[in-house]
Amino acid sequence: MTLFRLEGRHALVTGGSRGIGLAAAHALVRLGAHVTIAARGEDALKAAAATIGARWVVADVGTPEGVRAAVEAANAAGPLDILVSNAGGPPPALPSGVTEEAWQRGFETTFLSTVRLAEAVLPEMRERRWGRIIAVTSLSVGRPVVNLPVSNAMRAAVTNHLRTLALEVAADGVTCNTVAPGYTATDRLKALHTDPAEAERLQSRIPARRFGQPGEVGAAVAFLATHEAGYITGQEILVDGGWSI
Ligand SMILES: NC(=O)c1ccc[n+]([C@@H]2O[C@H](COP(=O)([O-])OP(=O)(O)OC[C@H]3O[C@@H](n4cnc5c(N)ncnc54)[C@H](OP(=O)(O)O)[C@@H]3O)[C@@H](O)[C@H]2O)c1
Repeated sequence: MTLFRLEGRHALVTGGSRGIGLAAAHALVRLGAHVTIAARGEDALKAAAATIGARWVVADVGTPEGVRAAVEAANAAGPLDILVSNAGGPPPALPSGVTEEAWQRGFETTFLSTVRLAEAVLPEMRERRWGRIIAVTSLSVGRPVVNLPVSNAMRAAVTNHLRTLALEVAADGVTCNTVAPGYTATDRLKALHTDPAEAERLQSRIPARRFGQPGEVGAAVAFLATHEAGYITGQEILVDGGWSI
């Protein structure tokens, strides 16, 4: 058998129009999967889909309707085997200064999105006794970043939800894992670190002495989606250049 191939598998990657989501979608396409990407902005999404050879659907995963639309559109191409739950991260703030509205938005977009997406894809996966549920989280799960309190809390919740879900569905051939990126060179990182001197300082503190590339995170996601990763469940893969050591 050829290793690490995904021919005939159908995947949905949310937050797939740029950055880590797009890199994950591209890695899945390269392994042979049929991929649908979802995001809110149509122009970027269409362009990204054309570049990597994916289908696309405009959907905001921070709402139940958006989750439904994304899953329905992806299922139209064939029953889903692989879900990659990803979206933009919550905006920065100090932990003492997060508004009620920001907590609510983070809860919907960063936590409930994964819960709802998983719920929507699970019945078919369990019936067909094969499925891969992968959420993109953050190094902040184990090492909180002071100005990202909503992200820290919601990603810890996603991680433990998928670990719990893994217990329920492991015997049905469905695995649930998370990929936790460290500092990765995407638009989000650029927006969070606009001062080049500060970006330099940050890189000098990473054992690998550089930011990660989106494709390096995407490759970890794609591996977890393969047949060969079928005995890995309830786990977190950190892709952080050694930061967490
Ligand atoms: N880059 C890093 O260093 C780093 C480190 C740790 C964790 N992370 C986390 O990893 C995830 C991906 O990061 P990234 O750097 O690739 O982010 P990014 O460059 O900001 O890309 C986010 C993607 O998600 C889409 N998106 C945002 N909100 C959405 C929503 N409500 N519904 C559907 N799609 C949505 C965006 O498109 P639209 O805006 O058009 O919807 C875009 O395609 C984020 O959650 C981030 O916090 C990133």
